Amino acid sequence: MRYLDINREPRPVSVIGLGTTSTIFGPGGDDRVDALIAAFLEAGGNCIDTAHIYGMGQSEKALGRWLGRSGRRDEVFLVTKGCHPQVDADGRFGPPRMSPEAIEGDLSESLERLGTDHVDLYLLHRDDESVEFGPLIETLNAEKEAGRIGAFGASNWTIDRIDAANRYAADHDLEGFTVNSPGLSLARPTEMFYPGTLFADDSTRRWHADRQFPMLAWSTLAAGFAGGTTTEASSVDEVARVYFSDDNLERRRRAEGLGRDRGLTGLQVALAFVLSQPFPMVALVGPSKVPNLNEALGALELGLTEQEMAYLDLEG
Ligand SMILES: NC(=O)c1ccc[n+]([C@@H]2O[C@H](COP(=O)([O-])OP(=O)(O)OC[C@H]3O[C@@H](n4cnc5c(N)ncnc54)[C@H](OP(=O)(O)O)[C@@H]3O)[C@@H](O)[C@H]2O)c1
Repeated sequence: MRYLDINREPRPVSVIGLGTTSTIFGPGGDDRVDALIAAFLEAGGNCIDTAHIYGMGQSEKALGRWLGRSGRRDEVFLVTKGCHPQVDADGRFGPPRMSPEAIEGDLSESLERLGTDHVDLYLLHRDDESVEFGPLIETLNAEKEAGRIGAFGASNWTIDRIDAANRYAADHDLEGFTVNSPGLSLARPTEMFYPGTLFADDSTRRWHADRQFPMLAWSTLAAGFAGGTTTEASSVDEVARVYFSDDNLERRRRAEGLGRDRGLTGLQVALAFVLSQPFPMVALVGPSKVPNLNEALGALELGLTEQEMAYLDLEG
């Protein structure tokens, strides 16, 4: 495993992080969670990503049960997120929920579900551009001061909003966002798989490279498209709708070809593409099965040259 430092947090974070949106992080999945996280820690992984909204709280509760059973809180770099709109039983979103009160309330509930007194990284899960970021930054600084969060950042915020929020922080002698969490995979979605989220486009990637600003990227396997598999979490139809463009099929074909020469799978090459971005990167993967996790971890063996990166992204 490789590690990087995020904002001088005491624990370096593994460059592959484990996502927890799969259904095993819910009622009845504890045995599979034990096996999955044990394999991840065994491989040197420590970053585990959850959110207040995942499974309507089931993901955090499942992680809380694991933390209680295992007693391994100190080995984990724990990430959670808050301020997502409410989602009803049919998947319809309510209005934005972005306010100091929502940060405080969601974080309190997250910590209670997780059975811990702090998380190592806290992310605002969505943005509401009509909300002033000053009070949000002040609240996040107060939570950090209180020891309930370590670093903090934004997920699905534009880089313009992150820049503006960080200017506010600098002008007021406060800490700003130190992590951005958009989607990023070799395959580029033709529409967003998760409504209202943001994928890192070319200018976002340049922004990260210019500042060496850390990214915690999600859907790094394009929800399973990278491996050409049907998954438990997403139907073939959903993945096809978002990722089956001619360009993405060609990107996957190139990844498979490059992998064949190295004894690796196309999925491992696609993940290596994310891990080889020229800025600090933590790539989240969301497997529910240990063999799938192990395949993803195999991507660490591959370093890609600039030329190979360009070839995979259809630039050469
Ligand atoms: N901040 C945000 O807005 C946001 C949005 C989306 C996701 N996330 C986070 O990012 C994590 C990862 O995103 P994701 O779940 O969309 O994406 P992903 O890692 O791109 O895709 C996961 C899917 O790929 C399948 N898969 C097939 N082969 C695999 C392999 N070798 N290794 C791993 N997975 C394989 C998995 O199937 P099996 O289940 O069969 O293993 C799973 O259904 C989430 O769990 C969540 O924590 C954050």
